[in-house]
Amino acid sequence: MEQPAGGRGRPPCLPSGIGGKATVDAPPNIAFVKYWGARDLERAIPANRSISMTLRRSFSRSTVEHDPALERHEVHWWGAEGLEPAPPSFGARVAAHLDRLRAWAGVGGAFRVGTRNNFPAAAGLASSASGFAALTLATVAALGREASVEELSDLARRSGSGSASRSVLGGYVEWPRGWRRGELHAFPLAPAGHWDLRDVIAVVESGPKETSSLDGHTRARSGPYWRARQRELPARLAAVRAAIAGRDLAALGEVIEEEAIDLHAVAMTSRPPIFYWKPGTLAVLAAVRALRGEGVGAWSTMDAGANVHVLCEPTDEPVVAARLEELDAVHEVIRDGVGEGPRAGEVHLF
Ligand code: DP6
Repeated sequence: MEQPAGGRGRPPCLPSGIGGKATVDAPPNIAFVKYWGARDLERAIPANRSISMTLRRSFSRSTVEHDPALERHEVHWWGAEGLEPAPPSFGARVAAHLDRLRAWAGVGGAFRVGTRNNFPAAAGLASSASGFAALTLATVAALGREASVEELSDLARRSGSGSASRSVLGGYVEWPRGWRRGELHAFPLAPAGHWDLRDVIAVVESGPKETSSLDGHTRARSGPYWRARQRELPARLAAVRAAIAGRDLAALGEVIEEEAIDLHAVAMTSRPPIFYWKPGTLAVLAAVRALRGEGVGAWSTMDAGANVHVLCEPTDEPVVAARLEELDAVHEVIRDGVGEGPRAGEVHLF
């Protein structure tokens, strides 16, 4: 297992911001042990440690330009005909994070931002994690600043999308439940090359989810099963770390499936309850169990949404994808897998 990377060198994910402009592609991540509930939600300080795998093919692209003469941030996202002004709620969240980054860098002026996902928005993929990771890295690069991976992860966390702290890193990643400065960033457990795991994503619902993760975190402690899940977590985290170290999919799969079901049990029994699952979610879970009955190593997990991520070895990916595509409830199957983390974007969005 690798130790956290140290030093203040320029991480490979940070391009040089020529002319005050930079573009970064950052992938979403899928949590094996979930962040659910916060000790300080404003600062995205989690109640529990989490572990995730960063994806490879899906990504959010963010282009950021710093203009010392600009008075207000200008935030655009990709619409039907290209970049268009982002809706106020999204624009305000992005602007708030740009304010934080501007204060961190100690500069004036404002930023122009364009953002785009290469996967269906709100497909239950962590688009805020990838989006805020890309925004953070592109802003730091546009300012020509140096920052360590740890600092970048910590900056991404402060966006309020805590899972963005994990998307700054590639491979298998852990995010501790630190409290003090220097303990709040995610760190690598193993690089992507350690274990080529695939994530076949069954999209059963393409619309935005009804309850945001932020609301979910707020309600997390309100139900009777919160404490029960907390008691399970230390053993679960240890089992996930060991399974990753030993590339043991059966061991990993049992734990991540149980953890995902527990997370949703906590959500469904919070006050008021949150139901992320749809009928299609159950259809996919049944298909995955059936695949296992046939000897295929496939295991499911769900973040705060209805769509199901099915983890498997590369040799089983075609059969898993084919089976999920057969299901009426599945609108789309996205084939992804573990990846190296953020990278410089090939082209600027503007
Ligand atoms: C269920 O507060 O990071 O995905 O901003 O929507 O990405 P977003 O959510 P965030 O909570 C993540 C909740 C989770 C579990 C996880 O990713 O750890």
